[in-house]
Order: sequence, then C-alpha cells, then structure tokens
Amino acid sequence: MFANLKSQPADKILQLMGQYKADPRADKIDLGVGVYKDATGLTPVMRAVKAAERQLWETETTKTYTGLAGDPEFNAALAALVLGDALAAERLSSVATPGGTGAVRQGFELIRMAAPEARVWVSDPTWPNHLSILNYLHIPVEPYRYFDADSRAVDFAAMMADLAATKPGDVVLLHGCCHNPTGANLTLPEWAEVAALLERTGAVPMVDIAYQGFGDGLDADAAGVRLIASRLPEVLIAASCSKNFGIYRERTGALIALSDPAKREVTQGTLAFLNRQNYSFPPDHGARLVTMILNDPALRADWQEELEAVRLGMLALREHLAAELRQLSGSDRFGFLAQHRGMFSRLGATPEQVERLKREHGIYMVGDSRLNIAGLNAATVPVLARAILAVGI
Ligand code: LMR
Repeated sequence: MFANLKSQPADKILQLMGQYKADPRADKIDLGVGVYKDATGLTPVMRAVKAAERQLWETETTKTYTGLAGDPEFNAALAALVLGDALAAERLSSVATPGGTGAVRQGFELIRMAAPEARVWVSDPTWPNHLSILNYLHIPVEPYRYFDADSRAVDFAAMMADLAATKPGDVVLLHGCCHNPTGANLTLPEWAEVAALLERTGAVPMVDIAYQGFGDGLDADAAGVRLIASRLPEVLIAASCSKNFGIYRERTGALIALSDPAKREVTQGTLAFLNRQNYSFPPDHGARLVTMILNDPALRADWQEELEAVRLGMLALREHLAAELRQLSGSDRFGFLAQHRGMFSRLGATPEQVERLKREHGIYMVGDSRLNIAGLNAATVPVLARAILAVGI
C-alpha cells in the first residue's frame, strides 16, 4: 500500500529552517520562519506564561478531557481579545484548535461542508500554507491582487477591482494584521471599503489573525476584523496565540464563526463535530495558560507590557534598517521597511538575489524575499543592509 505514496512538496519555510540549522557558519543570520527572537536570538517564554505555568502546576488537579469545543472560558476570553466591542454573544460560535493553522484548516473544512462549491479568494501573495491546505482539500482558489511590487505597498485599487467579482457562496480570506508575507496592511478606511464591497457582493470574509499585538498594538491590530465582524452577517475568524503569547509549540488557537443568531446552535455544533472528526478534543495546556493570563488582571498587565516591548523592539529594528539603507544607498527606496508592520517585510528581491544572500552572506530569508525583522539585532542590521546592496537589490 505504501508503495503508492509519492513524495510531497516540501514546505518552503520549514525547508529553510533545516538549511539554516545545517549551515556551519557562525555568523549566519536567520530571517526565515516567523518566530519572534530577542536580541540574543532566543525565543523567550514570556514572563506571564511562566507565572501561569507555575500556578497551574500547583493548582491543576486533573488532566481529564475538557469540552469538545475546548474550554468555554478560553473560547470566551480569546473571542473577547479579538473582537473587543464587536463581540456579539448571540452570533458567536467558537472552538479551540491546535494553533492558528488548526483554525485555518477547520475554517476551510466548515466552508466545504456549508458550501461545497465555494471558491476561496486569497491575496496574491499569501501565506503558502493557506494555498497548500486549500489545494489539499480540493477547494478552488482565486487570487486577488494585493501587493504592488514597485511601491511595496497594498495595491488597493487592484484588490477592490478583483474582489468586485466575488459572489454569494465565495469566501474572501483576509489577513487581520501584519500581512504574511508582505508586511503591507490595509488602513481602517480601506477595511471599511472592503466590508462595504462584501456587503454588496454577498461573499463571506474569513479573517486570519495570527499576529495581533505585533503591528500597531492589540486593539489597533484587531480594528479591521472588528469592523468586518460588526458589518457582515457571516464571518469566520482564525485566531492564533502562537506569536502574541509566544507559545508556538503548545498549539493554541481558535476558530470563531459569526452567524445569524438562529443558526448559532447548529454552527457551534458543526464546529465541535469537526473537532471530533479531526482530532477530538483540542490541546489544553496553552489554552489554559492564555485563559489564566487574560482573566487575571496582574498577569494580563504583565503580558501586555512584555508584548508591547516586543512590538516596539521590532518597530525600532525596522526603522534602524530603513535608516541604514537610506544612508548606504543614498536613496529612500527602502523606506517601505519602516512603513510595514509585524514580523515580515517583502524586500522585492529576485530569487537569485535571495540565493546570493544565503550563499555569499549566510543570510536566510524565504525565497520570495520575505524577511523576518525579529531575526535581526542592532549588530546585524548594518550587516544585512550592506549585504542587500552588495547583491544589487
Ligand atoms: C511563518 O509564516 O513563518 C509562520 O507562520 C510559521 C509557519 O508555520 O509557517
């Protein structure tokens, strides 16, 4: 039977992680996978997470199953973090999932059950795994233009022109903030225009929000998804705690669905059913830590403070890199680095230039020239700036 298996295409981001690990050069720089690193290259366990783990160790009395949809307290706390004032309990269904990817997968499965003919519109470019999962599930994909290669900003007119062709039964996948892989984001007035367009065409938005708190702050980063949630009758949201709580390997996330109140019960039941089919009960450890942090004022304040320091640190690195490149190149053509938000920016280099950065300079970024700003520190910013110019970007 296994003789029939064919080798599967390697995930480009994970492949790069392996190449970086195998590189013996001591001065190599990892700007690949989307994992936050501090100035020493460490992905720290956040203070509030450590404190919650300590408390949990003392107080947890059982490891028996939680609910099939996850712990209701976690679902409520995470929905409140994402939706804020736009939370409407009578419309809300939610299940805990293994990370943001689990939420994306369950969202796509829900779409396939509800509308087997649905097409999913994705930004060009998008996170490669969006495409990979959609293809795996045989869900038709339609790209919409998003990124202007010259300005490295959102090509909003092109995006709106493409999305005008959406129709009822279609789903439009949007990045809630910190667009992956480009770093170029919609402004709030643009979100409002997207919401109005989807109201007109009848397509359903699905918002993947994996970096809340990494861009302009916890509330500002969720402003777009909140606007969509308050305007559209049906919305899917895939939320991740991997990055903003730094609990990557704990696999913590949620799929949230907003529906007509009359359909809430059946939507919630379908989400729980999907959990049962795919992995039964979702993982609990990370979800429990997040719940403890969000529901305890002192832990929450400490978490927010540390998250804000992480965010400001990445912003400072962006500004440093843009300034360094301005000085070395004598031009402002890298100014977009300071405008982008989140962990990523797409540099706009050719695959050959990206390859040269790796081969000649030991600098690893994804082949589409996405770089992870958090992989830098004050000492490596000038090294990267010089290398960028040396390979002719
Ligand atoms: C990334 O885009 O690098 C992250 O979301 C990690 C991943 O799973 O790809």
